[in-house]
Amino acid sequence: MAKTTQQIVNLNPVFPQRIHLQAAATILRQGGLVAFPTETVYGLGADALNKDAVAKIFTAKNRPGWDPLIVHVRDIEMAKSLAKELPAHFLTLAGKFWPGPLTLVVERSARIPDEVTAGRSTVGLRMPKHPVAASLLAEASLPIAAPSANKFGRTSATRAEHVLDDLGKSVDMILDAGPTTLGVESTVLDLTQSPPAILRPGGVTREELEAVIGPVTLAPSVADELAKRGVASPGMTTQHYAPRGQVELFEGDREDVTNRLIARAIDLRNRGHKVAAYVSDEMVPAVTPVTELVSSFGKWGDWERMARRLFAALRVFDKQEMAIILCVLPPATGLGLAVRDRLQRAAGKK
Ligand code: TXA
Ligand code: MG
Repeated sequence: MAKTTQQIVNLNPVFPQRIHLQAAATILRQGGLVAFPTETVYGLGADALNKDAVAKIFTAKNRPGWDPLIVHVRDIEMAKSLAKELPAHFLTLAGKFWPGPLTLVVERSARIPDEVTAGRSTVGLRMPKHPVAASLLAEASLPIAAPSANKFGRTSATRAEHVLDDLGKSVDMILDAGPTTLGVESTVLDLTQSPPAILRPGGVTREELEAVIGPVTLAPSVADELAKRGVASPGMTTQHYAPRGQVELFEGDREDVTNRLIARAIDLRNRGHKVAAYVSDEMVPAVTPVTELVSSFGKWGDWERMARRLFAALRVFDKQEMAIILCVLPPATGLGLAVRDRLQRAAGKK
C-alpha cells in the first residue's frame, strides 16, 4: 500500500464513529497496519489471512519470527473457520468469557498463513470486548492478527501515545480511544493440552477459569515463578515487558514492604542512583522523601488498579531516566498472578 501521511484518529471509546472505522477497515483490506485499543492493551493489527501484511507487523515491532501472533475474531463462527477442530472446553469457555481477555490456543486451519503462527500447528484466537476492536472486526469482516502495539521486549502500550512512541511511522493509522481499561494482556490458555495450560496469566484469572472447567495447569515458566515466590529467574524472563531501568520487587505485608523499600531507596540514593517507586497510596508519604519519582496505583490490595496503571507508570519512569524502579509485588491470586508475571519478567531482564 502507498504510504500516506500517518493518521491518529480520536474515537469515542463507547460509540466509535463509523467513518473512522471504515477508513481503518480499508487500510486493513489493502494490507496496511492499524493500531487499535482492546480492553487489555493496544494491538497492532493486520489482515490475518494476508501474509505480506502480517510480515509488516514483525518488521514494525522487531519481533522475532518464532513468536506467534494471536488472531482476533468477530464471533465464534469466525473462530470456527480458523480452527481445524474445536477442542473440549472451547465452546464453554468462549461462551462464558468472550468477548473478553482470553486467548484460546487451538489446532489451526490451513487458511491461516504460517507467518501468523510462526510455523506452529496451533493458533491463538481471541474475541475482544472493547467497542473499538469489536466494531473494527465487524466493519472489516476479517480476522485481525494483532500483537501488543509495542517494540518487541518493551512494555505493552496502554495508550495511543505509547504506540506512537514505539512504532511511529510504521503504522498506517492509530485509533485513539484513550487508556485501556484492564492494562495487562489477555490470558493465553492452551486447549490442545489436557488439562488446559495457562501459557500467560492475564485478564481472565486462573480462579475464574477453574470455576468453569475445573483444574488448569500453569506452563512451566509460570509455575517456576510461583514456586520461587518473588525471586526472578533471568532464564525465563529474558527481555520481556522490560523498562530500561532495573526493577526491584518487594513482597509481603504492607508495613514490612514499606520498611524494606524505604531502606533500599535510601541505600541506592546514597550511592547516587536515580530511584523511582510504584507503590500504594498509603506508602506515598513515607516513600516520597527518599525517592526521585513516586507513582501510586491506589489502595493497598487494589491489584486491578495496579494492573491498569502499571505499564504507563513504567514508561514514565523510562522517560525520566530512572535507573532503579522499586515496586510492590502483589500476591499470586486473581489479577495479581498476571501482574507478578509481568513484573518478574521486567525484573529478570538483566
Ligand atoms: O491482550 C492481548 O492478548 C493483546 C491484545 C492486543 O489482544 N495481544 C497480545 O499479543 O498481547 P502478543 O503477541 O503481544 O502476545 C501473545 C502471546 C505471545 O506471548 C505469544 O507467544 C503467545 O501469545 N501465542 C500466540 N499464539 C500462540 C500459539 N499458537 N501457541 C502458543 N503461544 C502463542
Ligand atoms: Mg506483546
